[in-house]
Amino acid sequence: MAEYRYPDKGDRLTIALINNEYDSKAWQESEARILDIAADALAQLSSKVSDRTLLDVGCGTGRLFDFFAKFVGRIEALEPDNERYRQALEKGRLVEASTGVSISVINEVLGDNKKDNFYDIILSSHVIQHLGQAQVVELFKTMARKLKPGGLLLLMTTYADDSQEKFYCESWDSESRKSRQISFEEFENIFRDGGGLPVRMFSKESVVKMAAAVKLKLTEFHPFHGKSIENGEEYQPRDAFYIFVKE
Ligand SMILES: C[S@@+](CC[C@H](N)C(=O)[O-])C[C@H]1O[C@@H](n2cnc3c(N)ncnc32)[C@H](O)[C@@H]1O
Repeated sequence: MAEYRYPDKGDRLTIALINNEYDSKAWQESEARILDIAADALAQLSSKVSDRTLLDVGCGTGRLFDFFAKFVGRIEALEPDNERYRQALEKGRLVEASTGVSISVINEVLGDNKKDNFYDIILSSHVIQHLGQAQVVELFKTMARKLKPGGLLLLMTTYADDSQEKFYCESWDSESRKSRQISFEEFENIFRDGGGLPVRMFSKESVVKMAAAVKLKLTEFHPFHGKSIENGEEYQPRDAFYIFVKE
């Protein structure tokens, strides 16, 4: 594969989004709530913790290794961007040393990895919103194939809460983060040719449909990362957390 570079170097656009448009403490607390839901689902698995293997697809810098190391005996992670891969490798070494959980990080995308390993859990956190349509469909297919029967896909991605899918290009205008709504065709071109960070806001329906096509059944759905909490629900959620089980 040609060398892939994630367009948001150092996560600067994401950090600017969180700091400028959200309350960053509430942002973190919102993610902590959905990670608690993930923990509850993992607690219901019948396998022994030390026997479980988790695949982290698009692990970035290994941000979630610490959290998931509590629930599995081994983590395998894939990260195509060289710089982020090196950071994840270092993070993996630290988490492995402190938890005893075996962690290996590979500089690849899913599918390049020819090893036919199968996993109890696959984690895909904030990856699919940056991929072209064909790549998302392919990723779902491969993730479903790599899950053991009864295995769980934990998926976090951006969410269009009015069911209208939207496409954006995020980039810098001198020192300001700029987000511009674009057409599906432009999104696909930017994914292919570069020119910013492509971000797709998925409707729940389209995510569930792509998953159903590869026999992944929805068991949990939780919007999160809202602007505020109203009546116990997050208002204007930017993201959603899905748990699918392989039938
Ligand atoms: C927004 S970051 C999320 C990182 C991490 N999962 C997290 O939640 O912090 C998206 C990551 O997906 C990686 N990525 C992009 N295309 C990918 C693909 N086809 N397969 C796996 N990872 C991919 C990028 O390099 C980037 O590190």
